[in-house]
Amino acid sequence: MSLKDIAIIGAGGLGKEIAVLIHQINQKELTWNVIGFYDDAVPSGTKVAGHLVLGKVSDLGKVDYNLNVVVGIGDPVVKSKMVTAITNPKISFPILIHPTAGVGLGIDLGAGTIITAGCQLTIDIKTGSHVLINLNSTIGHDVTVGSCVCIMPGVHLSGFVTIEDQVLIGTGASVLQNLRIGSGARVGAGAIVTREVERDSTVKGVPAKQ
Ligand SMILES: CC(C)(COP(=O)(O)OP(=O)(O)OC[C@H]1O[C@@H](n2cnc3c(N)ncnc32)[C@H](O)[C@@H]1OP(=O)(O)O)[C@@H](O)C(=O)NCCC(=O)NCCS
Repeated sequence: MSLKDIAIIGAGGLGKEIAVLIHQINQKELTWNVIGFYDDAVPSGTKVAGHLVLGKVSDLGKVDYNLNVVVGIGDPVVKSKMVTAITNPKISFPILIHPTAGVGLGIDLGAGTIITAGCQLTIDIKTGSHVLINLNSTIGHDVTVGSCVCIMPGVHLSGFVTIEDQVLIGTGASVLQNLRIGSGARVGAGAIVTREVERDSTVKGVPAKQ
């Protein structure tokens, strides 16, 4: 079987963790050939997680062969701007799922969605494109997640929750059932969300307050 070429945008901490995710997918089933990183801040030729930085993100515009790209950027707004700027039709954004993640029934994931180790998604869950669901997070039944949402490690979303586009949910936060988190909102690490969260607002604490 021929391997599929894949590049990682972002050579920082999250990008390195995505290199580990791909490595662990390959250990289970050899699928990907990591060609390297693209990063605007790290010089080309730098070695990161055993792979070279190949250039700046804008260099992806010149790629003239089919290339899979995964985005290792944890800020939803930065991530959204970056993916919107990539218009080269040769670039595809695959869905990556760690072999230990539990993906249940009726799960509809958008392009570029990343599900890392230990996450559990139960039933009737829909995500937009470029969603990150990070380590050991649980997503309950009938949850809808918008595009470029970043769910940090150990987050719990209860049933019928709706997360709009470009939301950040910090490490260890929980969202109670039936709630909506407005687009661009940030939920602080460790927060327990018990009420709707307005768009572009920041909430934190237990119970979460603006
Ligand atoms: C809530 C959050 C988005 C706010 O970011 P910010 O606007 O830059 O806030 P600041 O760091 O300037 O902190 C402002 C105040 O809120 C407090 N604070 C920050 N985050 C908090 C949190 N999660 N819970 C409770 N209080 C928090 C700070 O101590 C500070 O208090 P002070 O004014 O009394 O000193 C951010 O702190 C957060 O929790 N981000 C998630 C990070 C995360 O999960 N990273 C995962 C990496 S894998």
